[in-house]
Amino acid sequence: LRIAVLASGRGTNLKALMTAIDAGRLNARIVGVFSDRASAGALALAGEAAIAAVSLSPRNYDTRAAYDEALFSRIDDVQPDLIVCAGYMRLLSEHEVQARRGRMINIHPSLLPAFKGLHTHRQALDAGVATHGASVHFVTPELDGGPVIAQAGVPVLAGDDEQTLAARVLGREHPLLVDTVRLLADGRITLGSTGVQLDDVVL
Ligand code: GRF
Repeated sequence: LRIAVLASGRGTNLKALMTAIDAGRLNARIVGVFSDRASAGALALAGEAAIAAVSLSPRNYDTRAAYDEALFSRIDDVQPDLIVCAGYMRLLSEHEVQARRGRMINIHPSLLPAFKGLHTHRQALDAGVATHGASVHFVTPELDGGPVIAQAGVPVLAGDDEQTLAARVLGREHPLLVDTVRLLADGRITLGSTGVQLDDVVL
């Protein structure tokens, strides 16, 4: 499976995929890493692993549509089977998303549909929930609104702050993302007309 990764930050989810592939735990190949931030750690990780690393600055484009057209033109150059958004902080154009329905996933640090958008750990703490976590979902034009594929839960502990809760969630994101991409690579998960199709998968 050819994977393109979109990331804006450190890239710990990207690293988790790279590590799993290198360890023979994921039969896939990362064919490109793309970012809106030249300083993203994810690009450095890609460079160190001789993976194509591309950053496009939104400042160089007049509209979101123009930016996304340039970005997806570069993504199409590496011909991915799957696009993984992992810590990518820009909304994707409806046109580009619809054209790749079922081939784009995102990992979001909350138990969707709860706490969409940013600062999810602050949202969880403010809401006083006992359980928080992460979700992998197919990308649709609605921000963090696509069909959920898999989730991982963590307890919210007394004394937690955003940092401690984020760290606990992040630790569960990595195996969740690897396991979900493996199911996609094995063709055992698809996005059907009525939503996520699992062929008797026990997550
Ligand atoms: C993670 O919590 C991810 O879920 C969110 O961005 C955070 C950083 O991800 N989207 P990474 O360390 O850059 O992979």
